[in-house]
Amino acid sequence: MTGFTRQDAMRCDAEDGLAGLRDRFHLPSGGVYLDGNSLGALPRDTEEAVGGLVRSQWGQDLIASWNRHDWIGAPQRLGGLIAPLVGARDTEVIVCDTTSVNLFKLIAAALAARPGRTTILSETGNFPTDLYMAQGVAGMRGDVALRTVAADDIVDAIDDRTALVLLTHVHYRTSRMLDMRAITRAAHARGALALWDLSHSAGAVPVALDACAVDLAVGCGYKYLNGGPGAPAFLFVADRLQPELRSPLSGWMGHASPFAFDDAYSPADGLSRFLCGTPPMLAMAALESGLAQFAGVDLDALFAKSRALCDLLILLMRERCGDLGFTLVSPRDPLRRGSHVSYAHPQAYPICQALIANGVVGDFRAPDVLRLGLAPLYLRFVDVFDAVETLRRIMTEGEWDRPSYHARARVT
Ligand SMILES: Cc1ncc(COP(=O)(O)O)c(C=O)c1O
Repeated sequence: MTGFTRQDAMRCDAEDGLAGLRDRFHLPSGGVYLDGNSLGALPRDTEEAVGGLVRSQWGQDLIASWNRHDWIGAPQRLGGLIAPLVGARDTEVIVCDTTSVNLFKLIAAALAARPGRTTILSETGNFPTDLYMAQGVAGMRGDVALRTVAADDIVDAIDDRTALVLLTHVHYRTSRMLDMRAITRAAHARGALALWDLSHSAGAVPVALDACAVDLAVGCGYKYLNGGPGAPAFLFVADRLQPELRSPLSGWMGHASPFAFDDAYSPADGLSRFLCGTPPMLAMAALESGLAQFAGVDLDALFAKSRALCDLLILLMRERCGDLGFTLVSPRDPLRRGSHVSYAHPQAYPICQALIANGVVGDFRAPDVLRLGLAPLYLRFVDVFDAVETLRRIMTEGEWDRPSYHARARVT
């Protein structure tokens, strides 16, 4: 077979100025991890970051740690670490709750800020929790409904009834990246607000929230930010909107003065009003360690590497697996794509299981998608080559069809 060889991939790695970042992570030896878009890898520093907090802060300083180690400032401090990754000011990002809960808070806040408008507009096939949360808020209010249309029809569907345009920047299944600037502008032209889910974007592709005049955003801490399973999420509210928006979850941590213990709720100035309860400090420590891995990293180079890894995967799939029934469902244009690449195949589930059994960890998204995530902080070009080679062997030898690979697990 001609074309791009393993030696070529090794040469790309030798020339990769970011190659050393891989050493910051624990990765399974002998395997290829292509699921950093679902659960990011474990940074080597994280065990000590969490263990140290447990031993010397919780274990020794106990409750004094809230002040002494600034646990109380963790939501804002970690938000400040995420801000440069998403093109925001550090007063605009805060870490708290889950992405789902943050969606709830921001959807409800946005609807309250657009009284009389009756629609939340989203994409058909958006990530389920985004749609479910919109349905939940709409159901509680009774005067608002969720409307979904195909991604290409979003701009035309925005009208004077639209309160909020709710979209995911990089689609979880296809990796298609929507035009944040154009859609946000179209929302504003009709008086609507725009809320973007950055779960598959933050830390993997360029995001320019302020330059695109975005109003609201949310995102996951456990994917490309490497914060660990179930890590706290983040939310963004543009500075200009913070005084007018209110969280529907008026917990004490969002109060102007939590330790005044007033009976009446009065929201904090600024973004802290979107906090709800006590920060989960063990999880915050793991996320802070994940975020520290971006320190000093040239983000333009990182995002360029993400595009190059995805481009290589698409090239190799065409060269080496082109006749094996895979259909690319991700955009070929790297500027319209996130950091994962997806292929439809009628047997995607057992194929994915066979890959995992052979050390190549991707994931399956129903009904028929094999999803391969290429986290640029720790993946090598040779990993991409080896993954495609493993896939080709599994397919040509028929290994994918073993009965055990067809049994569905709860998490796919
Ligand atoms: C686009 C998107 N939003 C939200 C979530 C998850 O939200 P939560 O962390 O609340 O489960 C995911 C998880 O994969 C996702 O892909």
